[in-house]
Amino acid sequence: MHITIIGTGYVGLVSGVCLADIGHSVVCVDIDTSKIALLNEGCSPIYENGLDDLLAKNREKGRIQFTTDMAIGMKDADIVFFSVDTPMGEYGKANLTNLLAAARTAAQHCSKDHTVFVNKSTAPPGTVSKLKAMIASIIDNKPFSVASNPEFLSEGNAIRDFFFPNRVVIGVEDANATKKLQELYRPIISEKHPLLTTSIQTAELIKYASNSFLALKISFINEIADFCELIGANVKDVARGMGMDERIGHRFLHAGIGYGGSCFGKDVKALVASGEECNFEFKIIKALSTVNDLRYYIVLKKLRKYFSDLKGKRITILGLAFKPMTKDVRDAPSLRIIYELLERGASIIAFDPLAHEEFQKTFKCRGDFSYAHSLLESFRDSDACILLTEWDEFKTIQFNDLLLLMKGRIIIDGRNFFERAEVEKAGFIYEGVGT
Ligand code: UGA
Repeated sequence: MHITIIGTGYVGLVSGVCLADIGHSVVCVDIDTSKIALLNEGCSPIYENGLDDLLAKNREKGRIQFTTDMAIGMKDADIVFFSVDTPMGEYGKANLTNLLAAARTAAQHCSKDHTVFVNKSTAPPGTVSKLKAMIASIIDNKPFSVASNPEFLSEGNAIRDFFFPNRVVIGVEDANATKKLQELYRPIISEKHPLLTTSIQTAELIKYASNSFLALKISFINEIADFCELIGANVKDVARGMGMDERIGHRFLHAGIGYGGSCFGKDVKALVASGEECNFEFKIIKALSTVNDLRYYIVLKKLRKYFSDLKGKRITILGLAFKPMTKDVRDAPSLRIIYELLERGASIIAFDPLAHEEFQKTFKCRGDFSYAHSLLESFRDSDACILLTEWDEFKTIQFNDLLLLMKGRIIIDGRNFFERAEVEKAGFIYEGVGT
């Protein structure tokens, strides 16, 4: 099938490369000329495990092309995916400007009958009907279909998530879209990796409800962690005990400094805003978002136990990315925590295996902030160390070696990643979250 992907961000690029890999002919369109130039040289603008190899393989087989020219992109298109950004707008609402602009341009170049326009950008229920109206106002007399096909890819694991999905959801309203989308995904669908067909509004809501529920699990266990500290219980064991109940499950019950990334914060707020537009109040979802917004504070509270004043204190920060295996720092807890530490006069030396460049672009700091060239260097003369991202590489730390490097003895583990006994045995003070 001929597939057009509009928007080569994280979702568009991964989906495009994977759809090419299962045998479709894919053209990716983007207005960003430098990004397209890079892709045409065979380089990926994002880091995702396994993506570079898959991109090279499918370029070599001639199954994927990249262009800024919508006329080339739309030529022969059977299915058009929109995967452009939908940033947070006023009052937490998703801003659909880029999405509607992409739909307008794609419709202007639509030459085939029965093209299926599919929204993959995360956008609230009702968005596909807005796209449909926009496309209909441009395509006069050609039949076309619309659909919603939310993505559930998780950064760092996106290629695996694409080929082995928990489910593929398609929201459709006619047989043309149903048939084409079923055919598109046939190579990856099986009993274990099913396709769920729903109405369009339902599919749109499945995406928001899923992300909000995962965010809820995180805020829930974080609140339990705070209570654990008060009564002397251990949240790791509480989560283990809860997760053994098959109805609850173990995943997304890791307590820590809160969720980050480009999705949860934005999507949760957009769902609340969608409710408000219908005079509906999402009480639970609002609360989970507030719990997360205040999460940065636990690090400051823990530091205050040991330092009445942070002025001049040298703090090692381990990890800047919002989670391991990515260089993405969008909405990462590190941004707020480092800002607060610098505001209080601390001096920061940070180390992340991948994210220095992205952090530099995003964080406009006005304090004493520097990057360490190596993991060990980040500890030199430091008064305290705070782990914010649980990179595997940090497991190699030998705490005995740090005794000579660090000035202070405080280890704050924002992800409950280190073993308390090991850290304490080396002579350090260990502060986990709810442990
Ligand atoms: C999330 C969803 O997991 C995907 O299914 C979805 O497709 C994607 O958003 C999206 O909407 O595009 P992602 O943002 O890549 O994926 O990251 P997650 O792995 O979900 O982690 C989000 C944040 O939660 C991270 O900061 C992570 O450290 C934190 N987290 C996760 C916890 O604090 N505790 C946990 O138990 C799990």
